[in-house]
Amino acid sequence: MTAVVPKGQAMMTGLSGPMVPSPFRVQRVRRETYDTFTLELEPANGADGFSFAAGQFNMLYMFGVGEVPISISGDPTKPETLVHTVRAVGAVTQAICRLKRGGVLGVRGPFGSHWPVEEAAGSDVVIVAGGIGLAPLRPAIYYLLSNREKYGRLALVYGARTLQDLLYQVELEKWRGHFDLEVEVTVDTVATSYRGNVGVVTTLIPRVQFDPLHTVAMVCGPEVMMRFTLRELEARDVRPENTFISMERNMKCAVGSCGHCQFGSTFVCRDGPVFRYDRIQEFFAKREV
Ligand SMILES: Cc1cc2nc3c(=O)[nH]c(=O)nc-3n(C[C@H](O)[C@H](O)[C@H](O)COP(=O)(O)OP(=O)(O)OC[C@H]3O[C@@H](n4cnc5c(N)ncnc54)[C@H](O)[C@@H]3O)c2cc1C
Ligand code: FES
Repeated sequence: MTAVVPKGQAMMTGLSGPMVPSPFRVQRVRRETYDTFTLELEPANGADGFSFAAGQFNMLYMFGVGEVPISISGDPTKPETLVHTVRAVGAVTQAICRLKRGGVLGVRGPFGSHWPVEEAAGSDVVIVAGGIGLAPLRPAIYYLLSNREKYGRLALVYGARTLQDLLYQVELEKWRGHFDLEVEVTVDTVATSYRGNVGVVTTLIPRVQFDPLHTVAMVCGPEVMMRFTLRELEARDVRPENTFISMERNMKCAVGSCGHCQFGSTFVCRDGPVFRYDRIQEFFAKREV
């Protein structure tokens, strides 16, 4: 398994520099849940599409409000539309989620490292997502499905707090219909009549089929969920060097200059957000790094 190589600025298209936002116009807004929206964007200045690698993020700038890091959640093989899925938690994300068709925001990026989808060819792949963590993993799922013949078994394990918090419900149904993709979904709590899986996402890992020594795992979700997931994957003998996690930290510059996103001896914006687990295991074990 080769290391994750940050592509970041080498992949920039149509932007004038890593610190200068380019205007993008909202083409379409889809409501995913009560607080989460998916926005499809196109360049407002007539630039070409937006190339990125699965797992990378952009800085989205709401004029007069502020700027936040948001993962790209669209299909890397369709760069003509830039897609982001945003959960409204504070001033900037709420302003983004209020945008309607025709609204404009600033975009700079893409930044950071990516999921090792090419390096995983020949292996089984297990994707474990919690809540909004499915958004950064969706581009990897698109990539794996459009190159299905290159991989062994593929499994997606996804958990959310309630049924109302599940993202991409139409797509989840479609993916479940694939005979060559195992999809396991669970919710933490539910009304009485529900007959699906109930419980935290880690309870599903023991039942997923894969060959541990030839498996690449990609994990994204709240840190506590990732800690328990990593423990379950280790219990099933998936190697730390074949396990990748996406980290979140507050960001300002996104280019490794300001130090806001420091995580142990790394910067999440420059060395992550996708990390090979064995390389950060030491700091990940400490809660407040
Ligand atoms: C690399 C990366 C990728 C991300 N991708 C996505 C994405 O695809 N979709 C998405 O909705 N969000 C994503 N986030 C999180 C997003 O950046 C934050 O929710 C956002 O910065 C909050 O800004 P705000 O001004 O709206 O809220 P603030 O006023 O800054 O915060 C509001 C509340 O949210 C909490 N909060 C702020 N930042 C985070 C964070 N990073 N993680 C958890 N809680 C936080 C604060 O503690 C506070 O309680 C990503 C973060 C990183 C670092
Ligand atoms: S956000 Fe400035 S160093 Fe990472």
